[in-house]
Amino acid sequence: MAVASTSLASQLSAQFSGLRRTSPKLDHSLSNSQSLFQHVNSSIRLTSSPKPPRGVVAMAGSGKFFVGGNWKCNGTKDSITKLVSDLNSAKLETDVDVVVAPPFVYIDQVKNTLSDRIEISGQNSWVGKGGAFTGEISVEQLKDIGAKWVILGHSERRHVIGEDDQFIGKKAAYALSEGLGVIACIGEKLEERESGKTFDVCFQQLKAFADAVSSWDNIVIAYEPVWAIGTGKVATPLQAQEVHVAVRDWLKKNISAEVASKTRIIYGGSVNGGNCAELAKQEDIDGFLVGGASLKGPEFATIVNSVTSKKVAA
Ligand code: PGA
Repeated sequence: MAVASTSLASQLSAQFSGLRRTSPKLDHSLSNSQSLFQHVNSSIRLTSSPKPPRGVVAMAGSGKFFVGGNWKCNGTKDSITKLVSDLNSAKLETDVDVVVAPPFVYIDQVKNTLSDRIEISGQNSWVGKGGAFTGEISVEQLKDIGAKWVILGHSERRHVIGEDDQFIGKKAAYALSEGLGVIACIGEKLEERESGKTFDVCFQQLKAFADAVSSWDNIVIAYEPVWAIGTGKVATPLQAQEVHVAVRDWLKKNISAEVASKTRIIYGGSVNGGNCAELAKQEDIDGFLVGGASLKGPEFATIVNSVTSKKVAA
């Protein structure tokens, strides 16, 4: 069945590929016929998407490449001084939005020393206006200190701290209503992938965002399979591409074709200087959310500059 489906998929992909350069081969051990047909459907529908704005052919969406560095709960004044200095001296491709998310207590230090070329994100924010919420950081405070973005729905917030879909959706709606951009994270756990629930989980998490927000203009979706975060086990380019296509397809069906085309869908989970170029070549990967490797300035710059691997000759 898998063999027959694959040959059908590659025939259809070849016929309707549009901007797509290759007929993706699905990873049989981790996909099923539903994902296969979703992929084929997307290939057909996205043929009519607007063309990307740059000389980029390996890009199904029309948004600018986006790379975020999530420093998590790491760093000291000294190590962050060094990281900022490395980032300031790095040569970064111009056609990439670059954002870093330092720990809250160092945001001011980073904002005052980092080049304006790189924007600042919070790693979390409170669900509403600030006030008597011990230990929380409000959206208003993030804005006050110069942050433009906030990461919400990260798997460490979902599965370690216990935030649920609805709470995360509310946080996103509040941050957006106050003018912050939201890096909205979704992703399945290993057991969910192994039991064939990857799309169900991702779509349910997406739906919680969709139910809460009134506009997608300022949202970047980060697909971060939980089993790949901080484990060194990166998703293969085709595993990531398969979910990114499905997410874009979900946006098209449930929001609009315009949102599906414009919304950046970035990949996170053990991205590093060595694997970023192959991942970036995938047409529905519009950038990365990087944890561990974002703590090393030169390596993070390599990941930012992996946009060049999209600029393959037409
Ligand atoms: P990692 O983390 O790159 O260290 O796997 C990614 C993330 O959590 O955003």
